[in-house]
Amino acid sequence: MFGHRKYCTLNSRNTFGVGIIDDSKILSNVKAVYVPLKGGIIPRELVGHHCDKAKEILEKALKEANIKLSDIEVIAFSAGPGMPPALKVGAAIARYLALKLNVPIIPTSHCIGHIEIGKLMTGAKDPVTLYVSGGNTQTIAFTEGRYRVFGETQDQGVGNIFDHFAREAGLQHPGGPKIEALAKTGKWIEMPYVVKGMDVSFSGIMTNAIKKLKTEKLEDLCYSLQETCFAMLTETVERALAHTDKTEVLLTGGVAANSRLKEMLDIMCKERGAKLFAVPREFSGDNGCQIAVAGLMMHKAGVKFEDTKINRFWRTDDVDIPYL
Ligand code: KG4
Repeated sequence: MFGHRKYCTLNSRNTFGVGIIDDSKILSNVKAVYVPLKGGIIPRELVGHHCDKAKEILEKALKEANIKLSDIEVIAFSAGPGMPPALKVGAAIARYLALKLNVPIIPTSHCIGHIEIGKLMTGAKDPVTLYVSGGNTQTIAFTEGRYRVFGETQDQGVGNIFDHFAREAGLQHPGGPKIEALAKTGKWIEMPYVVKGMDVSFSGIMTNAIKKLKTEKLEDLCYSLQETCFAMLTETVERALAHTDKTEVLLTGGVAANSRLKEMLDIMCKERGAKLFAVPREFSGDNGCQIAVAGLMMHKAGVKFEDTKINRFWRTDDVDIPYL
């Protein structure tokens, strides 16, 4: 019988993580994050980082969980979306371990991982989810067998916008936390606010903020960039609540670590009699446990996978959810 013990690898963008869970209990969550010395991510370096770190991270996770590799009963890995070179490292390691241990292997959606770890950690039952990370920005709600995307970015994820702006301003990657800190003493400057129905677009605001680096104070730009992007997101989440009649909002993904975003969503939720659930910081950024939790739910629902190919464009709403 399946003993609910599970190992997972995950690496969608710049994180190599291993999470071990025993049913819904987290036994360990260990990760290494690749940070480019200068500029953006270099795929060759990213692959090198993941390969170099894999053994150390796996051993640490097993030690922290206080189990042996042979105790693992199911393997899950992030099959997408994400950068193919990074996904392929995780897939190859997962396939090797599944063969060696002779256990099932579950290709898992990175995005659904963010939703499921958020629900597990906060107790949210049926939320409208705001999933905000480097590469993704989506407003999601479960209906008729799938997590449906009600709205999303038409260009880049909000985290990438922060990282890109920060780079242009000479700040080190990741930019989000630095922008949050600088915004605390900033003042308001008008910036492009682009909401199209349920979708948002961030490329105009990013270009505008970068242009203004020559003339405006960095603190004011950070404050206004954050306020404008988060107001756009709060507006679309409020509309999703109204459409779906749901009464919970779940905030998840790397940008969920931002206190100002939590505050703005909380105010909106209170005004409409809804409740905000924000994933704890340890599980907001990419991590192995998000894959373990989502993969385990698929496994317990009896889903079997022959095909373990990666899918760089795998969408949240492409995945049938048999367990809800
Ligand atoms: O989910 P995640 O770990 O992986 C990606 O999809 O890349 O998210 C990373 C993103 C980065 O863009 C980073 O700048 C952003 O999350 N981030 C933040 C904060 N902490 C991390 N953005 C705003 N405020 C923060 N405190």
